[in-house]
Amino acid sequence: MTAMHTMADALIATENRYVAHNYAPLPVVAASAQGAWITDVEGRRYLDCLAAYSAVNFGHRHPEIIATAHAQLDAVTLVSRAFHSDQLAPFCEALAGLCGKDMVLPMNSGAEAVESGIKVARKWGADVKGVDGPRIPNIIVAHNNFHGRTTTIISFSDDDTARRGFGPYTPGFRSVPFGDADALARAIDDDTVAVLLEPIQGEAGIIVPPDDYLPRVRALCTERNVLMIADEIQSGLARTGRTFACDHWGVVPDVYLLGKALGGGVIPVSAVVADRDVLGVLHPGEHGSTFGGNPLASAIGRTVVGILERGEFQRRSAELGAHLHARLTALTGNGVLAVRGRGLWAGVDVDPALGTGKQVGLRLAERGVLVKDTHGSTLRFAPPLVITADEIDWAVDRFAEVLS
Ligand SMILES: Cc1ncc(COP(=O)(O)O)c(C=O)c1O
Repeated sequence: MTAMHTMADALIATENRYVAHNYAPLPVVAASAQGAWITDVEGRRYLDCLAAYSAVNFGHRHPEIIATAHAQLDAVTLVSRAFHSDQLAPFCEALAGLCGKDMVLPMNSGAEAVESGIKVARKWGADVKGVDGPRIPNIIVAHNNFHGRTTTIISFSDDDTARRGFGPYTPGFRSVPFGDADALARAIDDDTVAVLLEPIQGEAGIIVPPDDYLPRVRALCTERNVLMIADEIQSGLARTGRTFACDHWGVVPDVYLLGKALGGGVIPVSAVVADRDVLGVLHPGEHGSTFGGNPLASAIGRTVVGILERGEFQRRSAELGAHLHARLTALTGNGVLAVRGRGLWAGVDVDPALGTGKQVGLRLAERGVLVKDTHGSTLRFAPPLVITADEIDWAVDRFAEVLS
């Protein structure tokens, strides 16, 4: 792609030497970005069709978000939760309103929101449901889930790469096939405190469940007095054409886990959002984070909620997503085996004879389009929602070239 001894080569070599090898990135070295485009250190432009795993839903350096960040940098950035700030209350009030819930627990990364959701569910189980003392609470999760990479979260992953060598694992989880409500019903017992699911599984390859699945999960959770926790960290905040992926099925979970785009592509902002009868189980000292809910994060999060309240990006994702899916589906039989997803979120299974997802992604990067493989020969298209129809056409044309 580039001549040897370019600035990019030098930076990649230095990165390989000094940065832990827990990722295997494409050889593109970003120097700046705007909207849906990334420019590398050699001045080459790439259409970003990953959007930092949906953390950049509103585009790189969205002007309103950047203006908020600048203004807040000049006011106050961090006080910890030892004191109040004038940014935390308006942010949490707005986010609770967007979710139709009573309260917010602000955190930073997605994995922290998941960990926090698990703690809240266990505490709710102990304090409200009475799963305490000799009774051991269990939480039901789905096969092929991805909720992050902390010790507890990988304990219920079935991805061997994420797990192997990192034991001992946290007990208290049961995994059932995603999309199988009967299996879920059989797994629930008197000590089940929560069901934790991605409404559409992202890292598994953008897997959309059968239409009756989430409504049945909702009904089961209500019947059995179990919390339904929706991990909308990747699927939420306009990515699928609705504010939450659960909205496609008219389902309201008890607990939303949010992250990624909540930080506007600027700063990690995550949250657990639920009603008072759930989040009210937390008392001072039982959970916390030095950075969670800091003024800079809160100001940015409040602006992100304001953008979502206008609905513009939900509409763009729905309309342009239909276009993206139509264009990708038309490649079926020409190197594409299947296309799944909702809105501007597509999982594309490429004929393995044409290479792994990683190899196809490399060839696309050479043509100026950045995508990421999920597993095997599956690619994910998840561009910033500011992308235009012409840019989608351009990206899919490059993809068609790579496939031929
Ligand atoms: C559904 C889901 N949950 C949780 C996470 C973890 O988020 P983070 O990487 O910010 O810890 C991810 C990240 O990809 C995710 O897709």
